[in-house]
Amino acid sequence: SWTPESFIQSSIESLRRKIGVEKVVLGLSGGVDSTVTAVLLSEAIGDQLHCIFVNNGLLRKNEFQNVLHQYRDMGLNVKGVDASERFLEALRGVTDPEQKRKIIGRLFIEVFDEEAHKIEDVSFLAQGTIYPDVIESASVAGPSSTIKSHHNVGGLPDVMKLKVVEPLRMLFKDEVRRVGAALGIPDELLGRHPFPGPGLAIRILGEVTPEKVALVQEADYIFINGLKEERLYDHVWQAGAILLDSRSVGVMGDERTYEYVVALRAVHSTDGMTADWVHLPYEFLARISNQIINRVPGVNRVVYDISSKPPATIEWE
Ligand code: XMP
Repeated sequence: SWTPESFIQSSIESLRRKIGVEKVVLGLSGGVDSTVTAVLLSEAIGDQLHCIFVNNGLLRKNEFQNVLHQYRDMGLNVKGVDASERFLEALRGVTDPEQKRKIIGRLFIEVFDEEAHKIEDVSFLAQGTIYPDVIESASVAGPSSTIKSHHNVGGLPDVMKLKVVEPLRMLFKDEVRRVGAALGIPDELLGRHPFPGPGLAIRILGEVTPEKVALVQEADYIFINGLKEERLYDHVWQAGAILLDSRSVGVMGDERTYEYVVALRAVHSTDGMTADWVHLPYEFLARISNQIINRVPGVNRVVYDISSKPPATIEWE
């Protein structure tokens, strides 16, 4: 019968056989799949594995530094690449959600390809593809979080020509988590909510600016931290803050304000295909709303999204 230990053992053997003394490059995202892929490969081939973690400037507050440290603590051979300015520059003036996704996807490949070129004689591209992604890519375009699905962007980047290793491609998500736990990956990393590849760009409605990124990062941080403090985080499938592109009137002291609206979203789901909004306690929502309005300059109103999927989607863009 299948156990995480037997899977790890047989994977290590077959990865060593397949890779030999060659080098492998892997893009880490902070997510569960790429992290488990990296640790498994690292067990098999050590520092022949070269990981690249790109900061697109659209991650959660402090996420890049925190996750980079966690990766290093786990002994991974990882290079952090801060490309924030490049992404934010490319997004300037762009308001269409699909356009944002395309720009971010293309730039990610560009940055990743540049970094992969700096590693001499790399032969393999590792990816955190899991079984549901395999099924999905047989029918539609494939998981948007993996590199291969972006290959229809102009000429084929060199990383696309590498041989592919996908050690998790026969596993379901819960099996990936069990393998991760057996590999000693901290629960904090394994229990992380899903986060979209385009990051906060699709949680800022309309144009993305550095100021808006900072604002939504603060609001999101207060919300997510609150969920953790109240031990609600693990009971929620995904959560985050969204910055609306319109402002509303408020009042502070004797003065009228005209500031941004933040929407909070928290859903239950099993695969993201359908989702129900979470009935978070009113007292909790009240506290988070107060904290956001008091601590995040530029926000005077917080609303809670009570729509389920379908017909609403989880993300607002
Ligand atoms: P929706 O908004 O379609 O989201 O209900 C379902 C799940 O997919 C994530 N999502 C994305 N992930 N690239 C990604 O890697 C994307 O462009 C993207 N759009 C949505 C979303 O966060 C949720 O988990």
